[in-house]
Amino acid sequence: MAEIAQDRAVRVAVLGCGTVGRALVGLLLDDAAGIAERSGVRLALVGVAVADPTKHRVGVPAELITGDAKVLVTDPEVDVVVELIGGLDPARELVEAALAAGKAVVTANKALVAAHGASLAATASAAGVDLLYEAAVAGAIPIIRPLRESLAGERVQRVTGIVNGTTNFILTLMAEEGVSYEDALGEAQRLGYAERDPSADVDGHDAAAKAAILAGLAFRCAVVGDDVPRQGIGAIPAADVASAARMGFVVKLLAVAELVADGALSVRVHPSLVPAAHPLASVRGAFNAVFVEGEACGELMLYGRGAGGMPTASAVLGDVIDAAHNRLSNSAAPAPPRGPARLLPPSEVRCPYYLSVEVADQPGVLAAVATAFGRHQVSIRSMEQDGLGEEARLIFLTHTARDGDVQATLAELADLPAVRRVGAVLRVVGVVDEPSAAAVDRPGGAGAVLA
Ligand code: HSE
Repeated sequence: MAEIAQDRAVRVAVLGCGTVGRALVGLLLDDAAGIAERSGVRLALVGVAVADPTKHRVGVPAELITGDAKVLVTDPEVDVVVELIGGLDPARELVEAALAAGKAVVTANKALVAAHGASLAATASAAGVDLLYEAAVAGAIPIIRPLRESLAGERVQRVTGIVNGTTNFILTLMAEEGVSYEDALGEAQRLGYAERDPSADVDGHDAAAKAAILAGLAFRCAVVGDDVPRQGIGAIPAADVASAARMGFVVKLLAVAELVADGALSVRVHPSLVPAAHPLASVRGAFNAVFVEGEACGELMLYGRGAGGMPTASAVLGDVIDAAHNRLSNSAAPAPPRGPARLLPPSEVRCPYYLSVEVADQPGVLAAVATAFGRHQVSIRSMEQDGLGEEARLIFLTHTARDGDVQATLAELADLPAVRRVGAVLRVVGVVDEPSAAAVDRPGGAGAVLA
């Protein structure tokens, strides 16, 4: 990395000019003096690379626009490259070229970091430059820097996040308005939260990429987004959201990364039942939050807007300022060593479950269903029945069970003649199930004892 004079502006190039790019350009141009005053560093926007340079972009001076991102990322006049293109191609190649050319890189690209974060970090480290990605997880919420720096010495036990605003909006609407998944999704699309093809959000791909990034930072290892098992929210009936509420729970799509008994790591994304008193239960609408549990720090939660032009640009700007300070002091942000991740197979994950099963309301049916649970070592904690005329809906809460055993139970239930349909299968998070564990739960902690 070339040394630069302390008193000159740090030159910034932006790749991509979508919602976040435009918001960032607006901040850099309209509030340049304010940013310099508050941060102590002067930033100069020197170029904006776009796919179609002939298109007029309101608020972006034509002389800054270029169609040649490849030239911009190696331009000796550029100190910091901000990648806001998204996706893997051509973002990966451009980021690699920028790092190799000795530029600091700031990116909001969760897909890129989740897939290639380790190799990009190695390239950055070899070049002695920053690779910063605060905006890649949970938009405006500062969670990357706290995990990397404030909690650098912490023995983190678990990170649990609501990291997808679209699904949180849908689940909030289902819980509070009693509407179906389809109607809530339609409303999310109408308001611009959900895409026309909503699969990246509702099937958990977006949250899985973010879970991988959080897990890698919290547990100092390399986790790839594609290795994160995920379950989306599409199969959750409104009746189960309502039943969960009656039982004192809220349904949330959670990204979970936790250390388990033998030091293995479980990283996963799934819809979950969260006790109504848990801090994550209060996160409504399109907001995000990340709840961290560590041995010394105890429980902490960061909350805010997980998407949107200005909130995401705010996180990007913080990284640009950090990178600029580091440039001026000829340093780079700490990059702690990371080992390989030892991931627990999904079938070995253990937690209590909520299961609903629609059955024929006839003598002997409950016994047959309960026998299936018992045959696979899944212990029932409580059961209630909702009548549906000729049919009934059985709602089970289990004790802590192995996922492989629950899946085997579900397969057997699906084959029983009296079972019409298996409804929601939701993991219960944020509870202490074992009677003995209740005594060691952190005093005043969020973990409710399962009643
Ligand atoms: N689509 C995401 C969300 C934002 O709904 O939270 C970008 O990751």
